Amino acid sequence: MTTVERTVAEEAPTLAPEEVAAWAERLEGAAVEDVLAWAVARFHPHLALACSFGAEDMVLVDALARVRPGARVFYLDTGLFFPETYAARDRLAARYPVTLIRVSPELSLAEQETRHGAELWRRDPDLCCRLRKVDPLRQALTGLGLRAWITGIRRQQAPSRAGARVVEWDDRFGLVKFNPLAGWTWEQVWDYIRARGVPYNELHDRGYPSIGCAPCTRPVRPGEDARAGRWAGFAKTECGLHG
Ligand code: ADX
Ligand code: SF4
Repeated sequence: MTTVERTVAEEAPTLAPEEVAAWAERLEGAAVEDVLAWAVARFHPHLALACSFGAEDMVLVDALARVRPGARVFYLDTGLFFPETYAARDRLAARYPVTLIRVSPELSLAEQETRHGAELWRRDPDLCCRLRKVDPLRQALTGLGLRAWITGIRRQQAPSRAGARVVEWDDRFGLVKFNPLAGWTWEQVWDYIRARGVPYNELHDRGYPSIGCAPCTRPVRPGEDARAGRWAGFAKTECGLHG
């Protein structure tokens, strides 16, 4: 580490474990703007929002842009999003004064095919997610100098997320994680979107509650779980960002 790097590392904010627990209690049930304002006050500029352009993330961008215009929002561009997702990205970029950062995997799709064979997601989605989402996230967290990240996960989304707190220590990536919508229902997300006219991915109107990469996402049938369309046919339920 150089002296400059050491100084930055020493000055970068963090939260002690007991503070994380105390703030998780205090911010539980707080308005999304209040959670974000606290996160910004404590961590800016060592903070960014992870955005997949799903409904929850659109709510967060809308709120964050008001709390801190210019705040950083990054997306892990696997290169395999639906065209509707890229369209949602463009509408978001046109409307909100945020700094949108595209994070790319080290391997292009062609390079991945050469090294691991065609359509890796059909044979080994865990490896594909690692190469196209998890490893790039690790690099982004370091490259962007982040000490905290903000995500759109909600407790109701999956049993693996049922314990999510508004503020938590993310052991997997070694930084503080804000989940301002942890306690929100799907209805609350859509009430917010409608009330503020927030742009959203049109696939939500076509039976896709949860949207990932095109090859690994199908619409859900009535009565199915909201995440049933993700990696259908595999035991996989998480891409590795959250569990
Ligand atoms: S996933 O793990 O199954 O893909 P999900 O789609 O539910 O996650 O998204 C949960 C949260 O993870 C999003 O609200 C967002 O904060 C983050 N996230 C998921 N995919 C991406 C992505 N491609 N780029 C940036 N953030 C993402
Ligand atoms: Fe690959 Fe599918 Fe994971 Fe996207 S969701 S990175 S295509 S395995």
